[in-house]
Amino acid sequence: MSDRQIWIVDFGSQYTQLITRKTRELGYSSEIITLKEIRKRISEGLNPNSIVLSGGPQSIFSDEEDYQFIFDTKLPILGICYGMQLIAQHFGGKVEAGTIAEYGHAEVLFQKGHKINHCPEKINVWMSHFDHVVEVPQGFEITLKSHNNLLAGIVNEEKKIMAFQFHPEVDHTDHGEDILEYFYNDIAGLKKDWDAKEMLKETQELVDVAKGEKVLCAFSGGVDSLVAATIAQRTLGDDLYCFFVDHGLLRPQDYGHIQTLIKETNLNIEIIDAKEIFFKKLEGLSDPEDKRKAIGVTFIEVFERKVHEFEENHGIHFTYLLQGTLYPDVIESISPHEDGGKSVTIKSHHNVGGLPERMKLKLLEPLRLLFKDEGRRIGMELGLKHEWVYRHPFPGPGIGIRVLGEINETSVLKVQESDQILFEELHRAGLYDSVAQAFTVLLPVKTVGVKGDGRAYEEVICLRIVSTSDFMTATWSDLPTSFLSKVSSRVTNEVKGVTRVVYDITSKPPGTIEWE
Ligand code: XMP
Repeated sequence: MSDRQIWIVDFGSQYTQLITRKTRELGYSSEIITLKEIRKRISEGLNPNSIVLSGGPQSIFSDEEDYQFIFDTKLPILGICYGMQLIAQHFGGKVEAGTIAEYGHAEVLFQKGHKINHCPEKINVWMSHFDHVVEVPQGFEITLKSHNNLLAGIVNEEKKIMAFQFHPEVDHTDHGEDILEYFYNDIAGLKKDWDAKEMLKETQELVDVAKGEKVLCAFSGGVDSLVAATIAQRTLGDDLYCFFVDHGLLRPQDYGHIQTLIKETNLNIEIIDAKEIFFKKLEGLSDPEDKRKAIGVTFIEVFERKVHEFEENHGIHFTYLLQGTLYPDVIESISPHEDGGKSVTIKSHHNVGGLPERMKLKLLEPLRLLFKDEGRRIGMELGLKHEWVYRHPFPGPGIGIRVLGEINETSVLKVQESDQILFEELHRAGLYDSVAQAFTVLLPVKTVGVKGDGRAYEEVICLRIVSTSDFMTATWSDLPTSFLSKVSSRVTNEVKGVTRVVYDITSKPPGTIEWE
């Protein structure tokens, strides 16, 4: 897309996606762009309204790239971390090689005559760098210094260039949004152009290519596939066919949800009952990777068979596969000097591994340029219900990776019943929306307990509840003991074969969110 007003040049920072996300949340359209691509577009006379130079892991001293073409645009430029060093060096300032990294929280102080709307005089920010700027270039002023007198921010208002040594895009930086907004609005003079209506228009355009064709969707009922299918349905109508594979590893709430969607949306959803096949394929498997693989392979087999049958019975031919792929899935960072320069590359991401190649289907991915929160905003714009759009994620392999070790129907039932209790109690306590994901896991351990008048020797249910915004890191949710106690009491009383409930207090890292 070349009509985004802010191009974010990626120098390989782990935070580049966050700059894009925060920028869009502030209402400015933006995209991550490769150095190669920006060079090409500028040479073709295409220009954005502003450029952001991201952070990056490399040292300015080993960078032989000529960036003159970027500065020749005379556009407003924001430099972050590596971007600040690059700006300082380009305009004749001095950068010094660091020997040890400055990593973590730091306090920075506004210099006399400088301030940013809504920010106090001192702000707590997130640093992550080796090299640092020691002399400001001519025409630039120092806006911020850290407590040990290191340069933390510079500006040249005339040239509309601003730079920070720290990362305003990460949540660890206080007032990060105010800092970005100050650059976009006060320095660069940009107008907001990114809202749910605009996003919806763009996603709709991505679907238009398939008009008049038969489109297939491996529908899970999760927010991404629901929003993607709803967008596609508006253009394609009944040419969109959603197949929902029931592998028997779902929770009662998932069965309820899919029935509700069948009743309350215009989507053409068909359930494929494949429980028996999945349980058979999982027999004797206890290694997590073996189980995941078996579920994945079986999913494809079942889906493919169904599609062939359907095509034969109805005399139709599917040409597209619709997927709810999101922006983070399609951006793959590559090492800075591959591909002729610092860059990101867009890869084709197959959520339903292997399907398109085998079935010769073209991919239709209306959400491929959006972040998950943006997909949710579109979902609300489309009039989908809040509880559908803000549903917790549920992994493809389902309960298959929440019964540790070997799976059988009795074990699955224990997770289904305990999960239903957890789900009901979260809603009753008004806690569902305050946590990112909550589920139960059956541990393959037997413990002694007392039930009624007798001794019981039964299994353990673990409650896993986490808070996170990106699922890359997560903290365990510190929920009220009265709530935990209620869930524990209900699970041990109502779920047959469970005598004990434990609460997982491991954050990610080191633990993953799922147990397998
Ligand atoms: P982990 O366990 O890696 O989970 O911390 C991060 C998020 O990803 C979900 N997850 C999956 N989703 N297929 C999926 O569709 C999978 O195989 C899978 N494994 C983990 C997990 O539920 C959490 O939201």
